Amino acid sequence: MSASSRILCPTLKQRLMSAEQAAELIPAGANVGMSGFTGAGYPKAVPGALADRIRKLNAEGTPPFRINVWTGASTAPELDGVLAEVDGIEMRLPFQSDPICRERINNGTMDYVDLHLSEVSQYAWSGFLGKMDIALIEVAGIREDGSLIPSSSIGNNKTWIEQADKIILEVNDKQNIKLEGMHDIYYGTALPPNRKPIMLTDPADRIGEFYLECPADKVIAVVETSAADRNSPFKAPDAISQKIAEHILAFFEQEIELGRLPKELLPIQSGVGNIPNAVLEGLDAGPFNGLTAFTEVIQDGMLKMLKSGTLSVASATAFSLSPDGIKEFDDNIDLYRDKIILRQQDISNNPELARRLGIIAMNGMIEADIYGNVNSTHIMGTRMMNGIGGSGDFARNGYLSIFVSPSTAKDGAISSIVPMASHVDHTEHDVKVIVTEHGLADLRGLSPRQRAREIINNCADPAYRPALQDYYERALHSGRGMHTPHLLGEALSWHQRFEDEGHM
Ligand code: COA
Repeated sequence: MSASSRILCPTLKQRLMSAEQAAELIPAGANVGMSGFTGAGYPKAVPGALADRIRKLNAEGTPPFRINVWTGASTAPELDGVLAEVDGIEMRLPFQSDPICRERINNGTMDYVDLHLSEVSQYAWSGFLGKMDIALIEVAGIREDGSLIPSSSIGNNKTWIEQADKIILEVNDKQNIKLEGMHDIYYGTALPPNRKPIMLTDPADRIGEFYLECPADKVIAVVETSAADRNSPFKAPDAISQKIAEHILAFFEQEIELGRLPKELLPIQSGVGNIPNAVLEGLDAGPFNGLTAFTEVIQDGMLKMLKSGTLSVASATAFSLSPDGIKEFDDNIDLYRDKIILRQQDISNNPELARRLGIIAMNGMIEADIYGNVNSTHIMGTRMMNGIGGSGDFARNGYLSIFVSPSTAKDGAISSIVPMASHVDHTEHDVKVIVTEHGLADLRGLSPRQRAREIINNCADPAYRPALQDYYERALHSGRGMHTPHLLGEALSWHQRFEDEGHM
């Protein structure tokens, strides 16, 4: 089925043009809301054509041509990469993981606004970000009435379409047309003081529509594409990821035994990456059945769990599958259709829903300090890694917030457990459990001093434990505040030592 045969609306079919022609319609300085979430459902052709246009303009020595790029979350080299390469992005939000973007953010040539993913649409609706000029959205098809069949992610597409003055659509025939019917677009959101409760009480609930409404008069271009999503391969879980997964699984079993979790657990939210994938594999191999997921992204591990019955339903805003995962999904889409619901990210990550459903949030971290403050975003306190993503949406509002990391980084030169976190994304109040390959620290109900002992003894690498212990003991005897004892002159000295000498 070609892309043009997926455009059933006669009015919009008349707006078909090339990616190059569409890119010409984007003015310098525009705020452009693009589709895309974790490498899925991003526009594949117009950003590249725009980058080519910018490259030519730059070569002619015209004033710099840059736009502001707002998305759902991370995209791919065909969007972030190409535009960052030609220095075409003035400001980027709300999450990225692209190496060229990261370099520009950290060398000061790109501004970056790192936002909780659930909050982006509220920012846009409230006018905090200024006016959106253009929405550039990938879809799987356009229906006769002009409504849109979303593709492999929804992200902020509903908001972008509603907020933008003008809309450019990319219709991608590589997106499985059987995605139709898997989405749930909720049109009941409002700004305060007009908000009503969101009537979703189970991850399997459907509360919205299959399609994105799209006013045809705002659509200035329709572009056909035929290109697959980024689909990064997963590595098989390594020994460290497996150890971390084992600690988490043992913790779940203990909580069930103590009557603090039901045997079906509570809806799971899982970040992407090797460790979360190892946890999912562990859950699938264990005694669990009929679990649910209320999360951001459907990754390979979740497909396996849905197939085996370990998971009965998964609600998310996007897929993030490896090439093997996408093949499995495409080959067996009829099996997955009823078990996966894709929602816009202000619903998939909604704090009201995370609290009501009692989410078990599992996310990666860069470092934690001995009192349980977690840094998810900044290397050595100054350099942006990716962004906070949805971790804060789920961690603060969920039932259990679990943060995971190997105990060291860079071949042991860095300890992930430090005296004081060099940047704090998740405060001690939002962090309930910390896990490394050495063990798990259950921080619930503990005072800061109790937490310090638990984290140092259970989570720190043995090579760093004596130094952490020594710091803590000296802080305890410093004669200063005993609630959260610190040696302020020394608290960030581990990071300084790394910057100066290459090791902590
Ligand atoms: N200091 C310096 N560098 C560190 C570090 C530390 N304490 N801990 C990790 N790193 C480096 C690693 O060496 C690695 O570097 P490399 O890419 O040069 O090899 C990189 O950070 C990634 O670390 P890794 O151990 O592979 O973890 P990851 O891929 O699981 O990513 C986060 C960890 C924190 C970066 C990632 O989970 C993230 O971006 N989190 C924030 C967003 C989020 O939680 N989203 C979840 C909702 S979907």
